[in-house]
Amino acid sequence: MSARKDTVYRVAIDGPAGAGKSTVAKAVAARLSIEYIDTGAMYRAVGLKMLAAGVGTGPADAARRARLLSETEIDFADGRIYLDGRDVSGDIRTDGISRMASECSALPEVREKLVALQRAMGARKSVLMDGRDIGSNVFPGAEFKFFLTASPRERARRRFLELREKDGNVRFERVLADIERRDYDDSHRALNPLARADGAHEIDSTDMSADEVTELVLGMILEARAAD
Ligand code: DC
Repeated sequence: MSARKDTVYRVAIDGPAGAGKSTVAKAVAARLSIEYIDTGAMYRAVGLKMLAAGVGTGPADAARRARLLSETEIDFADGRIYLDGRDVSGDIRTDGISRMASECSALPEVREKLVALQRAMGARKSVLMDGRDIGSNVFPGAEFKFFLTASPRERARRRFLELREKDGNVRFERVLADIERRDYDDSHRALNPLARADGAHEIDSTDMSADEVTELVLGMILEARAAD
């Protein structure tokens, strides 16, 4: 892994749902003073827009979907995501949108649009992006690539604790089943499936805190940049 200190560089953090990517990604980007782009939030925003417009993921809705996508703008500012100028950071964090985002992310036209946007966002400045296909597809030439995992039970446990804050009736077994189904869907879709990219450092965070993972990732980046 290398990146000259004065040049633009990209950090890719991929991995399954609930592995702690966004917590670590936010902290690492802040410490490096580079922009953080949550690509999962972009698929969620498209899912939200399609749901609200009643546009489905099947072939019957292909034409409406193409129009909707051509009229979609997504931006990030101060850690918030804006869909067509509206802050949707809160609206995209529901179970329904998680499912819709996963379905949308299998559609070629959605991936084409969002991958092009992501490449444009990282074209001229240093960025840290997290997602499923950043190191393998969006920026295969990224200077730093990480693949963050944790056991399905541990990822479900983390998600369960988060959800329980909002809803006391949430059941662990359902959260686990949901994580397992999304793992399967994300890694078995035909286009850019979730997979460890060539040259990515795999980190299993099952027995690590978010701070420990942050320090590990940051240490590897700073060391490589200092050596350059
Ligand atoms: O990371 P997340 O749960 O917010 O992602 C939502 C969905 O988007 C997830 O099911 C996988 C998909 N996704 C993707 O296909 N490619 C990415 N780079 C990021 C997310």
